[in-house]
Amino acid sequence: MAKIIGALATSHVPAIGGAIAKHREQDPYWKPFFDGFNPAREWLASQEPDVAVVFYNDHGLNFFLDKMPTFAVGAAEEYRNDDEGWGIPTLPPFKGAPELSWAIIDTLIAREFDIVTCQEMLVDHAFTLPLKLFWPAGDNPAVVPICINTVQFPLPSAKRCVALGKAVGEAVAAWDGAEKVVMIGSGGLSHQLDGARAGFINKPFDLKFMASMLDEPEWAAQYSIHELVEKTGTQGVELLNWLAARAAAPGPMREVHSNYVIPISNTAAGMMALEAA
Ligand code: DHB
Ligand code: FE
Repeated sequence: MAKIIGALATSHVPAIGGAIAKHREQDPYWKPFFDGFNPAREWLASQEPDVAVVFYNDHGLNFFLDKMPTFAVGAAEEYRNDDEGWGIPTLPPFKGAPELSWAIIDTLIAREFDIVTCQEMLVDHAFTLPLKLFWPAGDNPAVVPICINTVQFPLPSAKRCVALGKAVGEAVAAWDGAEKVVMIGSGGLSHQLDGARAGFINKPFDLKFMASMLDEPEWAAQYSIHELVEKTGTQGVELLNWLAARAAAPGPMREVHSNYVIPISNTAAGMMALEAA
């Protein structure tokens, strides 16, 4: 039986990649953000997970607006990174865990999730930055990318993303292997990059959402997508990835660490590391 050791979550602002490349982690602007990852890195070093299942949203790199799956699961030997236009350095390919990918895919299809299966998949900043933040030396575990459309309407409901996460978690728990698996959710928290509300941040909602990740993981699923956009901004709905990752790591959790910094670029930058109790 594979073991789910916990759930990680972080924002994925592209400028983080630039700050890392320019060694700006200890600059006054960046320090409060990057320092938040240290306790999570120590915990991961003690846990040594073998696989990371990464719930994220593609921003027009692998899926453009002409073809937009609601849910897509990677089943590749490796995943190449490319830059969809932010100018941040490209990272070396990420090693896949295709056997576990196929086990997850089999379970999702059996449970009537009509996913897209990707045996080739480019991954963008939303995938790479969480891995770089939690494993700065590049010694991250093998990966299973799971892409949720948070970009082009209609988006899947928060309730559906929780159901997806639960099914993924059950597939991993039923996997006949000795792997230790960590779930990762990428994106959020509140932010809006465009339109009249550009720069929108909702700290009270973000803090309530982060608290719910610990003790009440389906709290945000009470809201419709339009309510979530209203409360968190058009890109704040990336929190769907946090919801799915938390649902995939069920049961009571202990908080290893959490951090919240506003703003980083235009975004309320949150991170959490939760250990299965
Ligand atoms: C920013 C945030 C994002 O989630 C993203 O995908 C791109 C940019 C930002 O705040 O700069
Ligand atoms: Fe984003």
